[in-house]
Amino acid sequence: MSHMMLASAHIPVLVKETIEALAVQPGGRYIDCTLGGGGHAAAILEHSSPGGQLLGIDADPEAIKIAGRRLEAYSGSTLLINENFVNLQVICYKYDFLPVHGILFDLGLSSLQLNGNGRGFSFQHKAPLDMRLNPNQEITAADIVNTYGEAELAHLIKTYGEEGFGRQIARRIVQERPIQTTLQLAQMVERVIGRRRGRIHPATKTFQALRITVNQELEHLELALRQAVSLLGFEGRLVVISYHSLEDRIVKQFMQRESKDCICPPDTPTCVCGHTASLRLINKRVITPSLAEVQINPRSRSARLRAAERVVTQDEHYKIVERLCSSAEVKANGWRRPTLLKKLRQAFLAT
Ligand SMILES: C[S@@+](CC[C@H](N)C(=O)[O-])C[C@H]1O[C@@H](n2cnc3c(N)ncnc32)[C@H](O)[C@@H]1O
Repeated sequence: MSHMMLASAHIPVLVKETIEALAVQPGGRYIDCTLGGGGHAAAILEHSSPGGQLLGIDADPEAIKIAGRRLEAYSGSTLLINENFVNLQVICYKYDFLPVHGILFDLGLSSLQLNGNGRGFSFQHKAPLDMRLNPNQEITAADIVNTYGEAELAHLIKTYGEEGFGRQIARRIVQERPIQTTLQLAQMVERVIGRRRGRIHPATKTFQALRITVNQELEHLELALRQAVSLLGFEGRLVVISYHSLEDRIVKQFMQRESKDCICPPDTPTCVCGHTASLRLINKRVITPSLAEVQINPRSRSARLRAAERVVTQDEHYKIVERLCSSAEVKANGWRRPTLLKKLRQAFLAT
């Protein structure tokens, strides 16, 4: 299959909902932290034209190439970077791409990666047990499976795969290793826990656990979300689509915490945390795909979209007001309240 065909095989999920949640506007500046096949990026560029700009990031060099071809018509307004989104802040400073109007994370893997291109993500295609998003990363899934101790393997399969048979699978891995290919591992898991449970292959959870471990997915997500908030301008939007409960829990808890003015335990008499909200939740309830979308694109069935809007924290508010009120401009011009408010709003927009 050619790259173009593989790229077109990735159908972006919740596109309309994403564009709405990002509140994409002409001339806006956006970051797609998970460029993949460039489907969401193309929609963002279309809705932000004329004048929109997009920074696209993907850890997988193949994704950058494929999305680059797909977004060719917008090459003057896009910057595509082969990097891990854990370095989001550094990337934005390096390329002077901030503040931004919206940041998107569409987590997980693209169909391009799952479709068995020899990267070892799928248990349906024979390939070396690799699972690295970027081939320059050091540790592969085979390294983990063949060198970790039994207890450690059991722990990670249980925790990151939410697999009830973690201990049994780990014991069998240790007995049967070395395990070098996806099919070897998938068949071994099937022998431990039996055949398919409904439509889900028995190795699904074990593969998820290994992929999360190889790519440090949960740690990177947590770190990147914090950086994303610092890069958003006033009223900028953060939109995250996740595909399993571990990711979704991190996103949900992060957005809830950051949208509160105090995060002290409920029985604390007065606030001691000093935390102030930097986000406002856009949708209180998670957004999921319609039945029609799931029928067309079964991969979308587990998608969960959450969105929040950047608000100015109390600290930032004080700093901006103070800076503006004591500025030489205010003194020299003797601005009155309406002008001052207008200037304040402009200052907030530039944060
Ligand atoms: C579900 S796909 C995105 C699909 C994309 N929205 C589209 O419309 O084609 C997820 C992409 O995120 C990338 N990715 C996952 N974790 C990443 C990370 N920590 N840093 C950078 N890219 C990552 C994967 O390589 C994959 O290409």
